Amino acid sequence: MTITNGDARGLLSSNTEFLDHTKALEVLEKEYPERDGLDIETLLDSDKHGALTYNDFLILPGYIGFPASDVTLETPVTKRISLKTPLLSSPMDTVTEHNMAIHMALLGGLGVIHHNCSPEDQAEMVRKVKRYENGFILDPVVISPKTTVAEVRKLKATWGFGGFPVTEKGTLRSKLVGIVTSRDIQFHNNDDDEVTKVMSTDLITAPAGTTLAEANQVLRDSKKGKLPIVDSEGNLVSLLSRSDLTKNLHYPLASKLPHSKQLIAAAAIGTREADKERLKLLVDAGLDIVVLDSSQGNSVYQLEMLKWIKQNFPQIDVIAGNVVTREQAANLIAAGADGLRIGMGSGSACITQEVMAVGRPQALAVHRVASFAARFGVPCIADGGIQNVGHIVKGLAMGASTVMMGGLLAGTTESPGEYFVSNNGQLVKAYRGMGSIDAMEDKKAAGKSGKDSKASNAGTARYFSEKDRVLVAQGVSGSVVDRGSVTKFVPYLIAGIQHSLQDIGVRSIKELHDGVYNKTIRFEMRSGSAQAEGNVHGLHSYEKKLYS
Ligand code: IMP
Repeated sequence: MTITNGDARGLLSSNTEFLDHTKALEVLEKEYPERDGLDIETLLDSDKHGALTYNDFLILPGYIGFPASDVTLETPVTKRISLKTPLLSSPMDTVTEHNMAIHMALLGGLGVIHHNCSPEDQAEMVRKVKRYENGFILDPVVISPKTTVAEVRKLKATWGFGGFPVTEKGTLRSKLVGIVTSRDIQFHNNDDDEVTKVMSTDLITAPAGTTLAEANQVLRDSKKGKLPIVDSEGNLVSLLSRSDLTKNLHYPLASKLPHSKQLIAAAAIGTREADKERLKLLVDAGLDIVVLDSSQGNSVYQLEMLKWIKQNFPQIDVIAGNVVTREQAANLIAAGADGLRIGMGSGSACITQEVMAVGRPQALAVHRVASFAARFGVPCIADGGIQNVGHIVKGLAMGASTVMMGGLLAGTTESPGEYFVSNNGQLVKAYRGMGSIDAMEDKKAAGKSGKDSKASNAGTARYFSEKDRVLVAQGVSGSVVDRGSVTKFVPYLIAGIQHSLQDIGVRSIKELHDGVYNKTIRFEMRSGSAQAEGNVHGLHSYEKKLYS
């Protein structure tokens, strides 16, 4: 090997003198006052290069001075409520029911329960989220001594847990007489027997007034699954559950309001008169955040609804939308929106832009709205078009505080519906736009059947007006591949975002926003061939395994 001095001359002329290497930073500062890459305004100058979406640009790397695990993702979802991770699941009937909402909240995000169902069913789902994880369960499901084994089996299937206290009257604040657990009924072969035949009566209880720490200790020592808390007369006042203790250990990021042990519950409603009644039921069930679900949120209906909610339920945070322009956003912010949802036509099952000729490419839409809303302290959700971790980070870099996902989560175990095998042998789950003919016809059929609560009150009003004689689809109906459980998938997304922010050189979403705002975080446009280069290319075959 020969070593020459001229090897690194590159684009310099052959007689240029090399500079002293120790002066590299000084030279950079003096001679290159403009940072490498584009600032956000230049990147998004739509006069120059059209309106951009996530795949059209990249974020330039910064300096890594900390481990990825140091990156925190705490972020506001409304003016008053913050989450530990910026991930939301969409209010769609193939994405978010109570099971998804519970798991998204346990993992530090939020699932918004859809409203394509009766108000009673939706309220029941909210109730399940609020009851799911508690220190003391203040409103446990209680049964009476007359309840049959068959009824207990049904309750277990409905609630997803199997330990029920038995009181004389079958209500809270009545004398505790026993507890029936899954194990008690598992092999009992007479379903008509009353629970008194199978329940345990050697009860360990704790007195009302016991602290959570003390009660936890009793539960640990007793090796029982449930600890009933009773008053001085032996009446049941609350319940503590061992599985909740372990859940607390396993879900350190869980979304809860300060001073509450319950998960945060969010649900969507429409903007019709009947939705006011629906909201009352949801609030009774414990709702914390309501999402006004319209594809075009800048309407007299939404503004009136927003004001009505603010007047009647000031304790509930309202996320309004969807919007893609500053002007739309300004109306909703002025009417009191606590958060905004941004996106029109970017959803994976969406044909709005094609059919209605309205919408906006998502990266630009997010930036235009979020940078305006930030001036009023209103956090924004980048909703739709998220296909991978990179898109999440780009949505956040455009100014969003959180992202909302439909298709990406629809293939998980926690979404509604069963898996089935597609024609090419892959395991898939159904996923449909709420403006697809399928989803709208479900509502219309219910409407004609005259079953009122399920019918005129079911929710696809987002895309369909009762007087419409012809249904115009804004979405499609299809399927998405199996993604396993969100308990694995969401931690993968979180770790991916942490690594990405580390590459960019920021320790938090706040630092990301600050860096983009003060133009220290830089971007680059991506040509078509740059996009091809950034994807796997030139391999004969490969398997794309995203995490293990
Ligand atoms: P995805 O994550 O790309 O699948 O997009 C989910 C988002 O698409 C939802 O949160 C809605 O904003 C939007 N969306 C849902 N259904 C429809 C539809 O039928 N047409 C247009 N957009 C839809």
